[in-house]
Amino acid sequence: MRNTKRLTVMAIESSCDDTSVAIICDDEKIERRIRANVVIGQSIHSEYNGVVPEKAARSHFANIDRAMRLAMDESCIDIREIDCIAATRGPGLMGGLLVGCVFAKTLCALSKKPFFGANHLEGHILSPRLCYDIDFPYIVLLVSGGNSMYVRVDGVGRYCVLGQTIDDALGEAFDKVAIMLGLSYPGGPIIDKMSKFGDPHRFRFTIPLQRRGGCDLSFSGIKTAVKRHIEILVQKYGELCETDKYDMAASFQHHVINFVMRQMHKVCIENSDVRNIVICGGVAANSGLRNAMAEYAHSRGINFYAPKKELCTDNAAMIGWSCIENINTGKEYHDIETKCNPRLNI
Ligand code: KG4
Repeated sequence: MRNTKRLTVMAIESSCDDTSVAIICDDEKIERRIRANVVIGQSIHSEYNGVVPEKAARSHFANIDRAMRLAMDESCIDIREIDCIAATRGPGLMGGLLVGCVFAKTLCALSKKPFFGANHLEGHILSPRLCYDIDFPYIVLLVSGGNSMYVRVDGVGRYCVLGQTIDDALGEAFDKVAIMLGLSYPGGPIIDKMSKFGDPHRFRFTIPLQRRGGCDLSFSGIKTAVKRHIEILVQKYGELCETDKYDMAASFQHHVINFVMRQMHKVCIENSDVRNIVICGGVAANSGLRNAMAEYAHSRGINFYAPKKELCTDNAAMIGWSCIENINTGKEYHDIETKCNPRLNI
């Protein structure tokens, strides 16, 4: 059932370390949907080599009002034209979720607009339909700092997790390996750049979960193997030289991409009726992974979609779009009493 009114949504995302406010319209023309998508990042976490939940929550609190004003200005849309307000209610860090939801609910109460409590994972999973004319079914590889999974998407609310990490997320593994190499946080983009200049075959790793079957992922063994390789080099030479670091970055990236693509192949074989594959999440920015996905899709004669970087990382545009998709398929708005759930699943 399609709602006849084309919605305009104010959306808020604050589940991790980016405060984002977007204004999204349900416009037929793809390029007219995102009226604003303001993201205020939090550099404070780099000195701790990871996101500190309490500092993240305080930064969201400090930035959310500015993010909303910037988004309203950029969109040139009057608050009266906004039909509803959406905010991520999980999964994520509780402090940040609370800041975003309380902010959204207060606006809802003051302006008498309905509230939609969005699922962050569903936001990522539906985001390809915000920027591409893509039909169901499709398979999403969602790889970020907190999640790594293959999801079959047959419709709004019809998701099947085909495989997921049993330990670290891929972005987390990139960041931890970067720390071992003495690089700054977040290390994923740095390893990606360095890997272009290193030898991807110098350090060898065993392929995870070979005996287990299925399409799950695991990165903690590779991470431990990197640690061991580094310890051996340090024992021998006292420290890592620049070449060692570049070779380790290249070998690690080469190996994890091979593993992710090996599992992707299994997923595609088991879902051979699906002709569209999509990558999203922060690690979707990885040049090697994007190329591997594109080449794989080409070799199978299927379509590959990779949303723009700003729609792959955490952003409120995807939250607004998931609200529109849900309401358009007849789902209800949420009660203002609806609670945040840091462990919300799909
Ligand atoms: O989705 P996202 O913005 O937020 C969280 O899940 O927190 O993803 C951030 C993650 C970080 O782990 C970061 O290192 C990783 O995405 N990342 C990358 C690249 N760009 C960002 N990992 C590998 N290669 C990249 N080019």
